[in-house]
Amino acid sequence: MAILPILTKDEIQLMKKACQLAARTLEHVEKYIRVGITTNEIDQIIHDYTLSHGAQPSPLGYHGYPKSSCTSVNEVVCHGVPDETILKEGDIINVDVTSYLNGFHGDTSKTYFVGNKINENVRELVQVAYDCMMKGIEEVHPKNRTGDIGFAIDKYCTRKGFTTVKEIGGHGIGKKFHDEPFVPSFGKKGKGDPLIPWRCLTVEPMINETGASIKEIDIPNSSIKWYVTGDKTLSAQFEHTILVTDMGYEILTLP
Ligand code: MF3
Ligand code: CO
Ligand code: CO
Repeated sequence: MAILPILTKDEIQLMKKACQLAARTLEHVEKYIRVGITTNEIDQIIHDYTLSHGAQPSPLGYHGYPKSSCTSVNEVVCHGVPDETILKEGDIINVDVTSYLNGFHGDTSKTYFVGNKINENVRELVQVAYDCMMKGIEEVHPKNRTGDIGFAIDKYCTRKGFTTVKEIGGHGIGKKFHDEPFVPSFGKKGKGDPLIPWRCLTVEPMINETGASIKEIDIPNSSIKWYVTGDKTLSAQFEHTILVTDMGYEILTLP
């Protein structure tokens, strides 16, 4: 089992730089998200911004993944592959950016509204997805385990009448894009892997409108899959990269 090593002070500074760039990339692309833009155009903006800041987009070529970001529209749960899809009024889109800078990966995503005619249930779903991420992050503490994060996320989500995705979740991150531990969006308090200071992980719950099972879809020439809700209802997600500290946590992907 691969476990990312504890980071030195210098490595933490490098990790922070990668995470800051990912956050600023998301902030940059946010200005372009509107009715009429294609997900390929969003991806190109991310690609160019990343390269112009001396970094590489981690997704590009990762296990054969063909693009520089993930753009997951409406019923797409995650790993939506940018294409010629044109965003339309009332859509939601999760844009997931991972930057590789100076040997470290920083990973962050947000769900955006397209246009301004957003129905109240959709607003509620997206707000709950954000709140679930924050509830999970607040559990990051060296006395806790991954199950504490998952428990907090699932409890809040269920109370709000939505469903957490169980198959996919957060991950250790640093010199590698994805590593142990798996960070679930459900679980039992005190169970799962310990949270070790001076290592990083992501908290990235996917929150679905209904409890329908999710469907896995192949990406040509890649071992990465993308996922949709089985009943075409909506899915929303937010993601931050978090440093476990001796006292609790620090969110590294704030711009
Ligand atoms: N950024 C995604 C995550 O949060 C992973 C994307 S992998 C890719 O873990 F290959 F699809 F880009
Ligand atoms: Co991630
Ligand atoms: Co991500």
